[in-house]
Amino acid sequence: MSIRLEIIDDDRWAESVANRWAAYMEERPEARLCLPTGNTPRPVYALAGPSIDFSQATLFLLDEFGLPKGDPARCDAMLHRDLLAGLAQPPAFLHTLDVQAADLDEECRRFEDLTDDGGLDLTLLGLGGNGHVGLNEPGTTAQAPTGVVRLASATKSAADRYGADHEPEWGITLGLRPILDSREIWLLVTGSNKAEILRRMLNGPIGPDLPASYLRSHANTVVFADQSAAGTL
Ligand code: PGA
Repeated sequence: MSIRLEIIDDDRWAESVANRWAAYMEERPEARLCLPTGNTPRPVYALAGPSIDFSQATLFLLDEFGLPKGDPARCDAMLHRDLLAGLAQPPAFLHTLDVQAADLDEECRRFEDLTDDGGLDLTLLGLGGNGHVGLNEPGTTAQAPTGVVRLASATKSAADRYGADHEPEWGITLGLRPILDSREIWLLVTGSNKAEILRRMLNGPIGPDLPASYLRSHANTVVFADQSAAGTL
């Protein structure tokens, strides 16, 4: 198995991941990074924002809910609150998915072409409670392109937890294919509520029932799990 698992004490987890990220960015200030939003990366972003210089980096936002502009649960709003607002200087480039685009298929192609053109150096991911990464829900294969997806009910509930004014039915996500083309992937997993899905992701079959399991076939993926999430391993 080429996937590497690092288990870190709960109270050191965010600092440890932020330090690793800072070291990565020191070596590659012009890195092309794909970033998730949600609860898991928030404490890492809180530490990384003020301490890492992203001014030469290119940032891609991993996914977006089909919600009106201004909804607090939109991924662009979360990225702004959790990371961008704390930066001394904005990133060199920031690419997001426009869910208001007139032609969504064209928008997905535009975004995927941007990620492919130079590739992604490092993709950070959270692990969905149902095994999704990005919004690649159960049933998604490893070849999935960037696309418009129907959200699983667990994902709609997650949007509620993020404070959505409206419950999203759909979203756009970077596909599993371009995610798996990233040169390096860090899967961030915290909390005992993720313990069972993490165990299945690492030990169960690789396949579309649990899209994150495909990360095990990637050459350079690290799982950063806190002790609570790693509890049953
Ligand atoms: P969370 O979401 O970080 O808010 O738990 C993870 C995900 O659904 O990808």
